[in-house]
Amino acid sequence: MSRRTEKPFWDPDELQNELATRCLGRRLHLFNRISSTNEFAKRIARRGAPEGTLVLADAQSSGRGRHGRRWESPADRGLWFSFIMRSDATIKQLGLLPLLVGAVIVEELENMLGRRFQVKWPNDVLYEGRKICGILCEAQFTPPAIDYVVVGIGVNVNQSEDEFPLALRNWARSLSTVMNKPLDRKGLLIHLVHGLDRAFFSGHELPVKKIKLWKNACAEIGKTITLRHGREHLTGVFENVSEQGELILRCGEALHHLAAAEFSIEKKITHHS
Ligand code: BTN
Repeated sequence: MSRRTEKPFWDPDELQNELATRCLGRRLHLFNRISSTNEFAKRIARRGAPEGTLVLADAQSSGRGRHGRRWESPADRGLWFSFIMRSDATIKQLGLLPLLVGAVIVEELENMLGRRFQVKWPNDVLYEGRKICGILCEAQFTPPAIDYVVVGIGVNVNQSEDEFPLALRNWARSLSTVMNKPLDRKGLLIHLVHGLDRAFFSGHELPVKKIKLWKNACAEIGKTITLRHGREHLTGVFENVSEQGELILRCGEALHHLAAAEFSIEKKITHHS
């Protein structure tokens, strides 16, 4: 557990006691402010930090999303955390990992809040088309083995609509807006961490069965979608996801397997009157 001279935003001992987990969070690093929990987790993973190490920050100054995008991470408003995985199982199905993490998050949010959430390939959790949570998995290999994977999760919890930057306002949403009341961030974190611990740290395999849950929560499967690859666009029917987490797109007779590292689904914004 890391200790800083500044009083941490939550008591680390108390938090660790409340996290009655098998593996996830047994080692805990808690920061009031850090550049990025993913960057910190990667740094300590390189130096040998064990599987399940959890890094949590109240605020991030350089929170990152996929494709190097900025992830807004203000203090006192969200859950910004990362954890380390080292299992060989993750290397075989690395592309599937963000989908499985997303499925677990949907499951836990639905249990806790009693609302229906959706997923968007590959790494978003949405509510009525607005982004609630993003997942960023980053891996380091020394082929053929995996050194580590860092899974970073950002959940918008207590931002009001007008606290999101203008460019995000039509796209992002917080759970407090969904529920129409402020939420207990710590209670939510404990719930999510327990779900993730059960799913990813209670056996040696990835919980691939959760892909069924992911597909049920994916509004776009079976629909015509447009994918972006740099400046190019590709339109077709979202047939399925592969065992590696690729999006299988049907264009006429042809089936394309598209990797998340290169393709993104074009943003479709649902407007509510
Ligand atoms: C995305 O939607 O593109 C992924 C967003 C991931 C954000 C989280 S917040 C905690 C962790 N630290 C980061 O810098 N990014 C992830």
